[in-house]
Amino acid sequence: MNQDGRTRLNQTPEWTALAKHREELGEVGLRELFAADPGRGAGYTLQVGDLYVDYSKHLVTDETLRLLRELAVATDVFGLRDAMFRGEKINTTEDRAVLHTALRAPREAVVEVDGENVVPGVHAVLDKMSDFADRVRSGAWTGHTGKPIKNVVNVGIGGSDLGPAMAYEVLRAFTDRELTVRFVSNVDGADLHEATRDLDAAETLFIIASKTFTTIETITNATSARNWLLGELNAGQEAVAKHFVALSTNTEKVAEFGIDTANMFEFWDWVGGRYSYDSAIGLSLMIAIGPDRFREMLDGFRLVDEHFKSAPAESNVPLLLGLLGIWYGNFHDAQSHAVLPYSHYLSKFTAYLQQLDMESNGKYVGRDGRPVEWQTGPVVWGTPGTNGQHAYYQLIHQGTKLIPADFIGFAEPVAELSEELKAQHDLLMANFFAQTQALAFGKTPEEVRAEGVPEELVSHKTFKGNHPTTTILARELTPSVLGQLIALYEHKVFVQGAVWNIDSFDQWGVELGKVLAKRVEPALTEGAEVPGLDASSKALVAKYRELRGR
Ligand code: F6P
Repeated sequence: MNQDGRTRLNQTPEWTALAKHREELGEVGLRELFAADPGRGAGYTLQVGDLYVDYSKHLVTDETLRLLRELAVATDVFGLRDAMFRGEKINTTEDRAVLHTALRAPREAVVEVDGENVVPGVHAVLDKMSDFADRVRSGAWTGHTGKPIKNVVNVGIGGSDLGPAMAYEVLRAFTDRELTVRFVSNVDGADLHEATRDLDAAETLFIIASKTFTTIETITNATSARNWLLGELNAGQEAVAKHFVALSTNTEKVAEFGIDTANMFEFWDWVGGRYSYDSAIGLSLMIAIGPDRFREMLDGFRLVDEHFKSAPAESNVPLLLGLLGIWYGNFHDAQSHAVLPYSHYLSKFTAYLQQLDMESNGKYVGRDGRPVEWQTGPVVWGTPGTNGQHAYYQLIHQGTKLIPADFIGFAEPVAELSEELKAQHDLLMANFFAQTQALAFGKTPEEVRAEGVPEELVSHKTFKGNHPTTTILARELTPSVLGQLIALYEHKVFVQGAVWNIDSFDQWGVELGKVLAKRVEPALTEGAEVPGLDASSKALVAKYRELRGR
């Protein structure tokens, strides 16, 4: 029994039933499952908004799904979901509400935190962002020398970078192509250098994105950006107001940095960094795509929020995806999960999901403060097809690891491609469908032999199959579809955290490295003694100083 009165997850009858069921299923394969049910291909599918979700190529039966749903009931996933939507402080280690869903709530909605309706504040900031984005896009907002803004540089890291950077790439076809939009995150000075080296400072707007406004990488880069701008313009501090705006929850620190708080777009501590790009953190994206497209994206998020909130368990897509991950991670020992989008525009999608998933569910301590006795979040990885096919898919097809994968594809190429380039889309999607087919059904030794392959090569050319995949298909990639996809993954991560009984909304695991970096820096720069530094790190620091001629 847990301190919170719950039975330990792995001692619940539902968990035991799943373990038994897994044993009974043994090595039952996808060929058998499909042979037993001719309706499986069309039947094991769900629709949410524009997303058609095919889960037929999973190593599951109706019974597996039923048992997984029972586990969700036993762990009160929907109870926690309702508490989240109501604004209860379900992020217990930080005593915070978890209300990214309020960021896309309609104007008339009421969502209370500590007795205060937060929705009017959300819309006030959205309106302020829209007004600002319109002024930048129209040229009405001018820089210190009177020139309109042509370049937007977002400076932030983690959730203050990955979301807008990813969404900007995804929605490139919807962006104002006259604007140059760049994202600087790495404290490696090369990042800021490359982002600014060919820009005219007089036409450049820096958006300093930091929830806390204390993140050392961001503040360091923001300081260097300010110095670069003032140097290039040969101007004093007064130029900052026209070229720097801030996205933050921390008014005091923003003012301290020298940014006019009138040019600050706020959000709130109930928005986690990795859940924040539909808040003020999305300002760079809004400038790029315009306020209307941004709002379409929010509508997409909302559509999936509503679905997650109200769809019954049998047809609840985030629930299903979360539970499938649990099936593989906890009952098949899968260690990782691949996300393989078949769209060039989704090139940063998986990197974004890495933070969303791994920072949320990379935890070994449960909500009860005790170490868990079950696997939690997987390693999330992947890049857009078809490139991966010529690189690492070999391991997915014939390696020794089970790697469940999500394949995401679109029926239509983006509208602005030439006819010739649009025609390539069918080849892209032929690969998309071929890969999940090959992964699921493989190729038997008999099939290989029938092709006349010499006996000594038969085993090499055999594909065992039974590699599970989810296919997510939409007609086209629009701002709304992007919102739908992100909300789908947000809620999937939520479901898993709820079942594993971990707090998906804190991130204490990143703190130690931050503290140590602060301690080590003087050793690098001044050769200062770091009390308690281990022998390996000491030798490395000495080598570093020697290599730098210090
Ligand atoms: O160090 C991790 C983290 O706190 C992330 O959760 C967050 O998205 C990122 O740093 C950036 O934080 P901030 O927006 O406060 O600069």
